[in-house]
Amino acid sequence: TRERSLILVKHDGVQRGLVGEVIRRFENRGFKLIGLKYVQATRAQLESHYEDHKGKDFFEPLLAYGSSGPAVAMVWEGHGIITAGRAILGATDPIKAQPGTIRGDYATAAGRNLVHGSDSEKAAKREVDLWFKAEELLTWHRAG
Ligand code: CMP
Repeated sequence: TRERSLILVKHDGVQRGLVGEVIRRFENRGFKLIGLKYVQATRAQLESHYEDHKGKDFFEPLLAYGSSGPAVAMVWEGHGIITAGRAILGATDPIKAQPGTIRGDYATAAGRNLVHGSDSEKAAKREVDLWFKAEELLTWHRAG
């Protein structure tokens, strides 16, 4: 199967009205949308999603923030999507993110960095399975 990445427009990104902007940047680059939903994540789901950060000082605020409102979860597919997707999002700390990236254009705080993207193939598989059922991933094919 083609490479996939889970991209989230987190609660702050939804509030800021950036859902369309995020989708547009991935579409413009040529990636293919294969899953999309508007979801209220539970704390349990976020604990699992952020399991690598368990024990860090920002873990609890991260869960509280993530569970405080709805997010848009997407699965994008295409060659190099994990690396290219993270480049589209910009550095985790928006202050270090380059202008031209989503975080570099719209954010200043790591705790309000608008978007999430899978950082490895292993993480992508785990995260896609956590947010989507297999039947919620659809694809289209060019005719001929
Ligand atoms: P994300 O890409 O969703 O993955 C882990 C998240 O933890 C990250 O984006 C930030 O939202 C958050 N995070 C990382 N570092 C910090 C930090 N120093 N302070 C607050 N939140 C952080």
